[in-house]
Amino acid sequence: MAVPPVIEWRDGAVRILDQRRLPDAIEVLHCTEVAQVMEAIRTLAIRGAPALGVAGAYGVALGAHRYNAESDGPFADHLDRVVEDIAGTRPTAVNLGWAARIVRAAAEPHGEDAEAGAAAVLERAQALVADNDRRHDQLAAHGAGLLAPGAQVLHHCNTGPLATGAGFGSALGVIQAAHRQGKVSVWVNETRPLLQGARLTTWELDQWGIPYTLITDSMAGHFMQRGVVDAVVVGADRIAANGDVANKIGTYTMAQLARAHGLPFIVAAPMSTIDFETATGDDIPIEERGAGEVRGHGAARWAPGDAPVANPAFDVTPNALVSAIVTERGVARAPYTTTLAAWHEPVEAVVA
Ligand code: MRU
Repeated sequence: MAVPPVIEWRDGAVRILDQRRLPDAIEVLHCTEVAQVMEAIRTLAIRGAPALGVAGAYGVALGAHRYNAESDGPFADHLDRVVEDIAGTRPTAVNLGWAARIVRAAAEPHGEDAEAGAAAVLERAQALVADNDRRHDQLAAHGAGLLAPGAQVLHHCNTGPLATGAGFGSALGVIQAAHRQGKVSVWVNETRPLLQGARLTTWELDQWGIPYTLITDSMAGHFMQRGVVDAVVVGADRIAANGDVANKIGTYTMAQLARAHGLPFIVAAPMSTIDFETATGDDIPIEERGAGEVRGHGAARWAPGDAPVANPAFDVTPNALVSAIVTERGVARAPYTTTLAAWHEPVEAVVA
């Protein structure tokens, strides 16, 4: 069966490939209300920072199209509320609010003309999605040069097209591009608690024919010690202006392990993931998720039903542990405050 798009706008609705069901079933959510898009985001039917950006953009477009002057008050206030609601669903991935705000701004010149405003919002959302695609292709090409032919690469979480809604993804895009230049293989961390590595990264690598071995997160150090890991490549949910990286919980552990074993720790993300308003990783909000995700998975539960739980969805890797940050602009090295700032582009350039 052909795999449907990760997310698309079709016939006035947002269609989302339900990642909670992968790899067992291919199901598409048909969202005709903003609340449905928000629920899909909250429950990780769609996830990964750049894909969340696409969901945010289409979510605002949906909100604009569903506007009802009688019940929703002034159009501008309605759009502001939609942006705020969507941006708040998952606080760490900066792309979500970033895209929602950029798309919402397209309605500004149209004031209370809701029809023209909604058309402008949708047009900008579609432009942003096309731009996202192009940027991920460039990013992957830049990063591929960092991996030697035959490299054994350790990857955490999921960063393929499921997570970006574009191209071959960010970190997995780099791995895919490197594979085309000279076979690489991947150590796939299962990525507890929600198993994005085990369920989604394996599924994508299978489709591309890239060899991989699935391991539990706690095995990573063992394989580094054995000398069978050449580099760690991960994505990011938000990168602070100084190069501190928020990514899936467990990433910081991988970065420390990479440092201890003298391995490059490479972060791949589009410029939209770099938050120049956030000075350091200390300022990045970390999403705390429900206890049930740690006590079990799906219908299975392995801990007492009332076991006290902590469940931060992300952690922060200090810039000192990051060997390189790959974006569509190239490969940045420390000091990131300087090298990333040199690539900062105004929003107008993104939506031009
Ligand atoms: O909780 P998730 O699945 O949305 O977390 C995703 C990640 O941490 C990814 O590594 C990150 O968003 C980069 S995706 C290209």
